[in-house]
Amino acid sequence: MQRADSVSELRATVAEWRRAGLRVGLVPTMGNLHAGHFSLVSAARECCDRVVASVFVNPTQFGPNEDFSRYPRTLDADAQGLAGQGCDLLFAPAVEAMYPFGPGAATQVEVKGVTETLEGAFRPGHFAGVATVVLRLLNLVQPDVALFGRKDYQQLLTIRRLVTDLGLPITIVDVPTVREASGLAMSSRNQYLGADEREQAALIYATLQRMRAGIVDGEPVEAVERAATVALEAAGFRVDYVAVRQADDLAPAVAGRREGLIGLIAARLGTTRLIDNLAIDG
Ligand code: PAF
Repeated sequence: MQRADSVSELRATVAEWRRAGLRVGLVPTMGNLHAGHFSLVSAARECCDRVVASVFVNPTQFGPNEDFSRYPRTLDADAQGLAGQGCDLLFAPAVEAMYPFGPGAATQVEVKGVTETLEGAFRPGHFAGVATVVLRLLNLVQPDVALFGRKDYQQLLTIRRLVTDLGLPITIVDVPTVREASGLAMSSRNQYLGADEREQAALIYATLQRMRAGIVDGEPVEAVERAATVALEAAGFRVDYVAVRQADDLAPAVAGRREGLIGLIAARLGTTRLIDNLAIDG
């Protein structure tokens, strides 16, 4: 696996591949890689001739009271893991390479329509940070395909909308969430959890499954959301939201419609904020 820390190295390598007519896939990450990230790399290998993975802990998508400074940075282990997965190029830029005028002075991209609700309401500015860094990565690499996990479902919709709105000639591929045996969605933030909390955290997925069963059985959305919130709070979670929404745009579910929905949860356990979702098709 090659490694590029600068934009010029990245561009030179990708340009050579392009001249050879190769199809390039990009897997953007913030590092601290786990099986969820590796499933993105393996999906990229299936649809592309060359795979670029980026590792960059993006400061502009973290709020002032969020975990930017303690976010786990494990670049050597990440590089080893990516090489083992058959990744061709690791792009691990410094902040200055991604934000030449500094993160606070960077041009920002604001995606409308799918970013205002749920995560957007609890994390103001988060999706502008995500859209800005993803657009920059797409511009630097100019991949044919970029791959994202379904676990960050609203992020996925935001990036799809970004690519459509700006007419970028890039296919966005989404990859299923990888789960631990308990059902807990893999996430770099799981390592903030203590052993007991990790066991407890599996309740989020169990709750999503119960929500899906309720909707499929014809229970009203509000009752399903309320029961799920009560169950999580009783188990010690602080719930940011429990929602059943339309999967294509996150608009409120239409009464009586059970197809094309998605259940989404964000909840805190101790100091750790966890999110997960599950498609519901009645
Ligand atoms: O999902 C992530 O890891 C990040 O939000 C992303 C897409 C790499 C942008 O920083």
